Amino acid sequence: MSQPLKLMLVAGARPNFMKVAPIIRAIERHNAALKASTVPALTTEPEAASSELPPPSSKPHSPCSMLHAPCPISYTLVHTGQHYDPAMSDVFFAELRIPKPDVNLEVGSGSHAVQTANIMTRFEPVCQQYKPDWVVVVGDVNSTLACTLVAAKLGIRVAHVEAGLRSFDRSMPEEINRVVTDALADLLLTPSEDANENLRREGVPDHKIRLVGNIMIDSLVANLQRAEQSDVLKRLGTEPARYVYVTLHRPSNVDDPACLKAIVQTLSDLASRCPIVFPLHPRTRNRLAQFGLSFPTNKGVHLLQPLGYHDSLALTKHARCVLTDSGGLQEESTFFRTPCLTLRPNTERPVTVTLGSNRLTTIQRLRADIDQVLRGPERIGQVPPCWDGQTAGRVLRALLEAS
Ligand code: UD1
Repeated sequence: MSQPLKLMLVAGARPNFMKVAPIIRAIERHNAALKASTVPALTTEPEAASSELPPPSSKPHSPCSMLHAPCPISYTLVHTGQHYDPAMSDVFFAELRIPKPDVNLEVGSGSHAVQTANIMTRFEPVCQQYKPDWVVVVGDVNSTLACTLVAAKLGIRVAHVEAGLRSFDRSMPEEINRVVTDALADLLLTPSEDANENLRREGVPDHKIRLVGNIMIDSLVANLQRAEQSDVLKRLGTEPARYVYVTLHRPSNVDDPACLKAIVQTLSDLASRCPIVFPLHPRTRNRLAQFGLSFPTNKGVHLLQPLGYHDSLALTKHARCVLTDSGGLQEESTFFRTPCLTLRPNTERPVTVTLGSNRLTTIQRLRADIDQVLRGPERIGQVPPCWDGQTAGRVLRALLEAS
């Protein structure tokens, strides 16, 4: 059997954890299948057969390709420590059964420059020590960008899972992270055709781009049963389709006092008609305190600590409506066909609007848009193609073929 392909997986912030979990599981399945059989593992996976995606390249780039020589995969998991609170990190490791990270860079919070620089200086020696064949980064957070920069300068190949998404809004820190990461990555693993088009428009050659599907949905599908067992609705004394699930944490919504005040007013009015369930991101909780803003203490307002993954999935599935500025929630709502209002002027996930249940809104229109959703059907939209829970297998296949 050939030498293992050495991957270094990077996770740093809450939305990263559900993207690395399925990749780890796929690696374990791949290695187990190799041990049990002489048949190349990835070519026999059910997801390869059921995929709506293009078949794997008939000309693999190296002898490591599963189509020719079975190749085990080893991985090192690096947690940058960008998110560190138990409720923002540990709970996801437990619920998603992610092994303890091999390395924790423990960078913590800071300005964008400080956080990015700290990750870089701490990640470089780790790369030099482990010498991976690939650094695999996911999503669009500061950890994604910082580790990409380090690996690219050390001459280590970078694979970006969730490549090609664009909001075309450079005032969003995540957009800068996406553009720079994709400019440097060697393998761009995209969730949807619009992402491929964005990359081609930026001059990325076709051979670097692979449409693999939506990795978030792998975790969602794998955790559906456990989410169904969550008792979060009971704990809150609410019932399916009787509440609005709210998550808001982007600086553009919560860092401006006037903006946050308008949100609090609209949601307070709404809560007298339809309960709101609002787990508070640490940034949002801090800003409410800093600006002296509060919600009425009545039964309709459930302000919570950040929730775990299963509770959040259960609340998304059963909500009458989701109001969010998170990328992940737009996708999860679309999967459940739960009407979703996104409080942002744009989205890097347009398929959630064109096919899914998502609609953009503004502070000015928020009240009217919520009323309209509450009058409309309880389930809307379609689940986009490649949201099939089989993306991680395609990620590995692309990596093996490119190696
Ligand atoms: C980051 C991502 C964002 C993602 C979000 C999910 C970037 C640029 N942004 O934003 O794309 O949607 O994660 O949450 O990477 N804090 C804690 N405990 C923690 C983590 C953060 O209290 O465990 C507080 C700190 O005060 C910190 C603030 O939250 O300054 C913001 O954290 P940070 O990691 O800088 O960015 P997020 O807003 O969480």
